[in-house]
This record gives sequence, structure tokens and C-alpha cells, in this order.
Amino acid sequence: MKILVINGPNLNMLGIREPDIYGKNTYKNLVDMIQSHADEKGVEVEFYQSNHEGDIVDRIQAAYGNIDGIVINPAAYTHTSVAILDALKAVGIPTVEVHISAIEDREEFRQFSYVSLVAKKTITGKGFNGYIEAFDDLCGNN
Ligand code: DQA
Repeated sequence: MKILVINGPNLNMLGIREPDIYGKNTYKNLVDMIQSHADEKGVEVEFYQSNHEGDIVDRIQAAYGNIDGIVINPAAYTHTSVAILDALKAVGIPTVEVHISAIEDREEFRQFSYVSLVAKKTITGKGFNGYIEAFDDLCGNN
């Protein structure tokens, strides 16, 4: 069992970026937290962060045939990217969408998510714990 955790633009700035919304913990803290959870469960995990839409599409395509589940926070691309939606549809890998903040309680332009059209589940507003919930959802009894 291998899970890929994808984070989109500006999530490399966690800890610096709008800490009142996204918290004070860093991207490295996030990766370390998920990695130790994965180690405890004995599940393999890989991480990918990019600020570039096409690179995220490339990483999703490269997951075909070798990744069993995708946890994705597409960040701003959530609300704009048909390309990321199509890539997830193309590979057919079970996907759970995560947002650190409660996007449903934020600006109008954050209300729609393309990725939610393909994700089996969308988790919002649970901070970093949302990634753990997503991971466990994809692992099932593993
Ligand atoms: C986000 C919410 C998005 O609207 C925003 O553009 C982000 C982060 C979240 O994790 O809450 O960059 O995906």
C-alpha cells in the first residue's frame, strides 16, 4: 500500500502564510506528522508539493500503476483547475481532498471545488488532522 500526498501552491509557506487561517506549523511539520503516522501504520507514503499546475498534473499521471491512494490539497487550484480534475479522473486512483481551512465559510470564490467532483471524500476545516483522516480513509484496515 502506497499513498501519495500532494500539496499545491503556497502550502510550502505554511507557518509564514496567514497563520490566523492556516496555523503556525510549517510544511515540514506537516510532512513529519504524516510520515510518523504512516510509519505507525506500516504504510508507505510519498510527498509532493508544487506551485505549478502542470507539474501537479505530471505527478498525478506518474502515479498511475504505482500509487494506491492520493491525498490532495490542491490549494488555489481547487477552485480553478480542470486540468487537475482531469488528471485525477485519468489515473482513476482513489482520492481524498483536504483543506486546512473551512473553505465553505470563506469567500465566494472558494465555494466551488473542481477536485471534489472526483474525490471520494472532501475534508475541510480540520487543520493538519484532516490529512490524517484522509490518509486513514484511503488505507482502510491497513
Ligand atoms: C486551502 C484553501 C484554498 O482556498 C486556498 O487557496 C489554499 C489553501 C486550504 O487548505 O484551506 O491555498 O486549500
